[in-house]
Amino acid sequence: MGIFDKMAEMGHEQLVFCYDKATGLRMIIGVHDTTLGPALGGCRMWPYQSEEAAIEDVMRLSRGMTYKNSAMGLRLGGGKTVVLEHKHGEKNEMIMRAIGRFVDTLGGRYITAEDVGTSVPDMAIAAEESRFVAGLPEASGDPSGATAMGVYVSLKAALQEAFGSEEIAGKRIAVQGMGHVGMILCDQLHKDGAKLFVSDIDQAKVAEAVERWGATAVEPDAIYDLDCDVYMPCALGATLNDDTIPRLKVKAVVGSANNQLKEPRHGKMLHDRGIVYAPDFVANGGGVINVAEELHPDGYHAERARKRVNQIGDRMRDIFRIAREQGILPHEAADHMAEERIAQMAAVNRMFVPRR
Ligand SMILES: NC(=O)c1ccc[n+]([C@@H]2O[C@H](COP(=O)([O-])OP(=O)(O)OC[C@H]3O[C@@H](n4cnc5c(N)ncnc54)[C@H](O)[C@@H]3O)[C@@H](O)[C@H]2O)c1
Repeated sequence: MGIFDKMAEMGHEQLVFCYDKATGLRMIIGVHDTTLGPALGGCRMWPYQSEEAAIEDVMRLSRGMTYKNSAMGLRLGGGKTVVLEHKHGEKNEMIMRAIGRFVDTLGGRYITAEDVGTSVPDMAIAAEESRFVAGLPEASGDPSGATAMGVYVSLKAALQEAFGSEEIAGKRIAVQGMGHVGMILCDQLHKDGAKLFVSDIDQAKVAEAVERWGATAVEPDAIYDLDCDVYMPCALGATLNDDTIPRLKVKAVVGSANNQLKEPRHGKMLHDRGIVYAPDFVANGGGVINVAEELHPDGYHAERARKRVNQIGDRMRDIFRIAREQGILPHEAADHMAEERIAQMAAVNRMFVPRR
């Protein structure tokens, strides 16, 4: 399928291919849908095996941001940047400046932030080249704490749905990925009295979790076979698939990873096994809520951001309720919620507002 056909199929407005002669930077900005406002989404730096893989990723991720930003009630569309390669091996100032300048060429149609492979300090450099960069050190900073909080309140909603109680004490919880989000989550779950099982491909991080919280270390692939109450994917996408779902003994899946279902049909497989699935782009929307607060006319307010992130719990409860009432799956209810809001806002956007 050609790129335009793929854009038509996935609903993309714009793909921007950027090449910087000086640094050898190759990057693609994907602007999926700007009905709700400028497209916001992070800048991912990843050693893609091919250009096709990078295009596929930027299209999938930018579309995901449209749904996430809509479901979070933000006045923002969905976008994403992927950086394929550059001459320097390591990131440096010139790379980040070149990224900032390319983002600036879109004049605010797209706003970038940190993502896998880029950091908050990297974004501070890019921000010297463009005002369309968010998630800055002196403002919202690292989104991981807000993301973890959104996952935490989603977990409570999922526990209520699966067990009839939000109680975390005594629950056996398997957390995959001891990264930024996983560590913050484990700390809170330990305080709440959960029994933790943890995995990571980095053994030092697993050792830290064992030391700090008395967690049980699990081999990366063994996490799907545990006799646990909840599985929390906080490492990679597509871990809910034909191989893993039949092995799960948990009653709920809630995590921060993007695109947890390998294919939409895996949501049905989970349901058929009696497992409550908390849709990923709702559970992990705390980070983008926090970043979006920077764009508020009054500037960033941590307390206002915290309140909005906490509301993810109510949104998740709504999704479970709608799914039950309409006889659909939670991920379908979440998709409908995001799509309906875009359709309604498109109607509001039809009104002409003169430029000031
Ligand atoms: N940080 C955020 O604010 C945020 C927001 C939305 C979504 N997410 C998603 O949540 C996930 C975690 O984010 P993060 O910021 O903690 O990332 P991170 O890179 O800090 O941590 C990911 C961890 O997963 C581990 N890992 C990789 N492969 C693994 C495997 N097969 N088994 C077990 N562990 C494995 C890595 O070693 C690393 O420690 C990512 O998928 C990310 O895209 C994060």
